[in-house]
Amino acid sequence: MQLPDFPWDSLAGAAQRARSHPDGIVDLSVGTPVDPTPAVVQEALRAAADAPGYPQTWGTPDLREAVARWYARRRQVPDVDPDGVLPTVGSKELVAWLPTLLGMGAGDVVVHPEVAYPTYDVGARIAGATPVAADGTAQVGPGRIGLVWVNSPSNPTGRVLGRAHLAKVVEWARSRGAVVASDECYAELGWEGEWADRPVPSLLDPGVCGGSHEGLLSVYSLSKQSNLAGYRAAFVAGDPALVKRLLEVRKHAGMIVPWPVQRAALAAVDDDAHVVEQKARYAGRRAVLREALLAAGLRVDHSEAGLYLWASAGEPALQTVDRLAALGILVAPGTFYGAAGAQHVRVALTAPDERISAAATRLRSGPAVRAVRDVGQDWWTSRTDR
Ligand SMILES: Cc1ncc(COP(=O)(O)O)c(C=O)c1O
Repeated sequence: MQLPDFPWDSLAGAAQRARSHPDGIVDLSVGTPVDPTPAVVQEALRAAADAPGYPQTWGTPDLREAVARWYARRRQVPDVDPDGVLPTVGSKELVAWLPTLLGMGAGDVVVHPEVAYPTYDVGARIAGATPVAADGTAQVGPGRIGLVWVNSPSNPTGRVLGRAHLAKVVEWARSRGAVVASDECYAELGWEGEWADRPVPSLLDPGVCGGSHEGLLSVYSLSKQSNLAGYRAAFVAGDPALVKRLLEVRKHAGMIVPWPVQRAALAAVDDDAHVVEQKARYAGRRAVLREALLAAGLRVDHSEAGLYLWASAGEPALQTVDRLAALGILVAPGTFYGAAGAQHVRVALTAPDERISAAATRLRSGPAVRAVRDVGQDWWTSRTDR
């Protein structure tokens, strides 16, 4: 099996440079939460610390019912069948193993977005299937399509797919006999336009799927909304027949969410207050960073939802990474997410307020910033079509 190099390893040089800044590094290169795990979740975990027996791979009925209620309350999906819910050990493992769990292999195509979280590609490779990066159906050949991934809001671009777009994907995938999996882990973090105060559409929304969850899976993670990436708590929901297939393999393979984490996940999906509170923190950081990036001459594309700003100085991504590293700010180059990210960097909102304001101050002043600003403005003024 041919797996790509782990992309973040290649950032070591820029990271070292950023760390040497006299006021320390501002690490915005990964989307790892930094705020405390909410008390309601920590208490649930502690209360379930006595766990001598094996937990259920499928998750307890009350957890699966709570997830179904969450879709109804937060995602405008009134009809999730608790039998079609399955907890996972974080969602990265599900993304990486889904093609394998669905029995895909050589000859199967796994379609994923052109600019995408790298694990969709990795998951296809683990299964021996063929990953194809495509945002439109015309780019996908006539081969046997096993699985189509969508990711909305997107990591890294922050783009949201509306109901009509998702409905077209569903219609097309069904016509090709493919499963659609929608990675929705940033759904609670809408910022702009209609997504500022309305839920980002789920694949399972009746307006998307025509009222049937057949062939569809929504993948959701509690890592970001509930600051518990360290717990590894996520779930998949949708077609009960598909979930049953996943469950069968996972039972044999011992892919079980630990009991205390199942109880913590139940507390997290049942409590909206901490999610609202966390969103407000990210909103503040996003506003500060966005203004500072714009002031430094970068432009911010998409980013209407999610945990990142997708920014460009109109130059190769690694050049922007280096310029920002000279300011002690570490970001991820868009090239980590596909060739179409060649001139973008991904700036995560996941740093404490003090570090975010340090980054903003550095972006607004200093010699390296002027360089960024100049490049950005040259780029702007050379583009008369905008
Ligand atoms: C698009 C996307 N999917 C899945 C994950 C994995 O989340 P976790 O494994 O913490 O649930 C991430 C994490 O950054 C992500 O960005």
